[in-house]
Amino acid sequence: MRPAQAHKIRAVRGEGAAVPRSLLVAHANQLLTLRGPRGPRSREAASNLEIIEDGAVYIEGDRIADLGTSQEILQRHPRAATTLDASGKVVLPGLVDAHTHTIFAGSREREVEWKAQGLSYAEIAARGGGILHTVRATREASEADLVRIALERLLTFVSFGTTTVEIKSGYGLRTADELKMLRAAAEAGRTAGVDVVPTFLGAHAVPPEFEGRSDAYVDLLLNESLQAVAVGQAASFCDVFVDEGYFTADQGRRLLGKASALGLRPKVHADELSDTGGASLSADVRAVSADHLLHANDAGVEAMAAAGVIATLLPATSLASRMPFADGRRLLAAGVPVALGTDFNPNCWCESMQLVVALACHHNGLLPAQAITAATINAAWAVGRGDDVGSLERGKLADLVVLDAPTYHHLGYRLGGDLAEAVIKRGRIRKGRTLTH
Ligand code: NIG
Ligand code: FE
Repeated sequence: MRPAQAHKIRAVRGEGAAVPRSLLVAHANQLLTLRGPRGPRSREAASNLEIIEDGAVYIEGDRIADLGTSQEILQRHPRAATTLDASGKVVLPGLVDAHTHTIFAGSREREVEWKAQGLSYAEIAARGGGILHTVRATREASEADLVRIALERLLTFVSFGTTTVEIKSGYGLRTADELKMLRAAAEAGRTAGVDVVPTFLGAHAVPPEFEGRSDAYVDLLLNESLQAVAVGQAASFCDVFVDEGYFTADQGRRLLGKASALGLRPKVHADELSDTGGASLSADVRAVSADHLLHANDAGVEAMAAAGVIATLLPATSLASRMPFADGRRLLAAGVPVALGTDFNPNCWCESMQLVVALACHHNGLLPAQAITAATINAAWAVGRGDDVGSLERGKLADLVVLDAPTYHHLGYRLGGDLAEAVIKRGRIRKGRTLTH
């Protein structure tokens, strides 16, 4: 086998990429399998990457057929249609981005000047920036425009090694525009060849036509939007932004109770700007995840641990909004599984889970191994896809990344670069040409 050569090329669209009948990835210096008991990992289990040295993965179609040491795998599968030599490199599961707002029109680069001048998130919103600025642009955009914009973004996600992406609505804030966003998310995912998990976030902000009447807007969500989303099977999850100036824990409880009854699994934007009881609410409504958690109180964290709620941390947002970083070590010590997401949105334009892993190590107190668990198997459970992705095990989707680095510690170490030399999604090579035949 020839040594691997790095080709820093952009990810290709899903439908155009070659689908090998069988694909062998061999001689990984470290194969991070993350295999283990079913479910998200906390405490000591969060540090166990289940590494195989000189490891290999044998793929048939879109699934992992076998994995082990290169010696074992080459013996069992001496021939493959395509072979990828990962000598000296790390191979790990495709990264899962557990929290994004990828669908929106326009941009908010003006806000960087306001941030530099010291304005807070709330002050920027009061000045006409923030979520409602993006709502205007997104309402005006056609569904086709949103698909086109999101497709470009998703291809960038893939080139950084992300193969499953959660996408929230929340810039339409009226039923028709929220549905437009959710359809655009699904269509962009299909075209990009990325697994997209759609989340309904109608309660992202109170729209201008309901200013000062948040309960009336919540009633509209309860009586019209939620039903429409559920009937159309437009989303898997329902999220609520419970925070100062947005929605109260009580409004969140009403919305998420109804969402659950309709088959949408609950998520909470919790305690990002201040402590308004988001963590406790997430436990009360048996949310799959509570996200942000910068200001979560101890009782809320304990309740999350007892209820099995996953904490999704979003360090790029803390970076972009000059806010504190959530304490990941405290969450893991309490027995809460930690996941990660970019929170890609117009306030935090970050497509790279690689950067998020490094930020989590530098600022959220996660060890590199814990941050990788958070960006793979725990993130997969946080978006309801833990049985299919997030670890390298027989029968799971063949989503994997080859890193141009000798050990996994580099993922926590390098800031803002791109270590993804090859990206494989559902058995298709989407980036990289380190091939031998
Ligand atoms: O997760 N916190 C609420 N929503 C986003 C920000 C959205 C925006 O500023 O447009 C977040 O940080
Ligand atoms: Fe968010």
